[in-house]
Amino acid sequence: MNVLVVGGAGYIGSHCVRQLVAAGHRPVVLDNFVYGHRGAVASRVKVYDGNLGDEAFVVRTLRDERIEVVMHFAAYCYVGESVTDPLKYYFNNVVATLHLLKAMLDAGVKKFVFSSTCATFGIPETLPIHENLPQAPINPYGQTKLDIENALKALAHANGLSFAAFRYFNAAGASEDGTIGEDHDPETHLIPVAIDVAVGKRPHLQLFGSDYPTPDGTCLRDYIHVDDLSRAHIAVFDRLGNPGAQLFFNLGTGTPTSNREVIRAVEKVTGRKVKVVEGPRRAGDPPALFADSKKAQGELGWKVKFPDIESTVATAWKWHSTHPNGYADRK
Ligand SMILES: NC(=O)c1ccc[n+]([C@@H]2O[C@H](COP(=O)([O-])OP(=O)(O)OC[C@H]3O[C@@H](n4cnc5c(N)ncnc54)[C@H](O)[C@@H]3O)[C@@H](O)[C@H]2O)c1
Repeated sequence: MNVLVVGGAGYIGSHCVRQLVAAGHRPVVLDNFVYGHRGAVASRVKVYDGNLGDEAFVVRTLRDERIEVVMHFAAYCYVGESVTDPLKYYFNNVVATLHLLKAMLDAGVKKFVFSSTCATFGIPETLPIHENLPQAPINPYGQTKLDIENALKALAHANGLSFAAFRYFNAAGASEDGTIGEDHDPETHLIPVAIDVAVGKRPHLQLFGSDYPTPDGTCLRDYIHVDDLSRAHIAVFDRLGNPGAQLFFNLGTGTPTSNREVIRAVEKVTGRKVKVVEGPRRAGDPPALFADSKKAQGELGWKVKFPDIESTVATAWKWHSTHPNGYADRK
């Protein structure tokens, strides 16, 4: 398939581009490099530098490249910033995405794969989080993703768009060969931050809350490897053949892992100590979030290759230890 990977120079998108090539597809990347990295995309993959909200540019790209499916990874994703600067999030994650969808309909491209998030569920009523739980985001970031999920339902009904919306839990890890990985600026994700502390790039790791009602008092999250996420995106292609298909899948390992367990895994894998400073809880952090991914497993034949935190951290370490300055080391 000819696949337009919007946000394909970012963390998850670039891993998906690799998996698409490995599966025999032809990915084309569209990214404005506000956060993406040239070095994350192999030179043989064509890259269009531009904004996904530019309809004329997107229509041209879709036609020129004979695109059959659009995968949409591009978004702003800092929860805290979405609270302080919601317009930035609504304009990029909602308005620009609506322009992208309009461009797709104009160009006659009707298959869409969307990066949604477990943040659309807010504080879940029950755990693990399955697809039928009510969605009630508690921050603008999660709301922007839910807004697009709802727009997609309407477009499926009215325009025959077929789509899959994947609600990721915590994306983690790096390519198994260690050549591409996570390089966010600022970096807020626990594994790369803990690795930074282990190698002495940061003085300590701030633990937000150690009095949660969880076994060791720290938050429980579900760390799903980026390559596992990517494989689900490709596995869904067969299901997008029916016009108007509306597919929702929660993607996680299903295993809750506490912040302290992540820190221990980083210490074990790196062989170094991670200095921790315990602080108060952060507003809006639910005690536990982990997925029920049985639907993806059953319907897509999706299997998690990295079920435990240590194997995922090991891939992250392979990337970070060989690229201490991220993609700056690859120029
Ligand atoms: N990382 C996670 O743990 C996680 C969890 C749940 C959901 N998600 C979702 O997955 C997607 C990818 O996340 P990521 O961590 O790879 O983010 P990222 O910031 O690494 O990648 C996003 C990419 O989109 C590009 N981009 C942003 N706005 C654009 C625009 N208007 N036009 C063109 N390109 C644009 C950026 O330059 C970047 O390369 C996001 O939609 C995010 O909301 C991520």
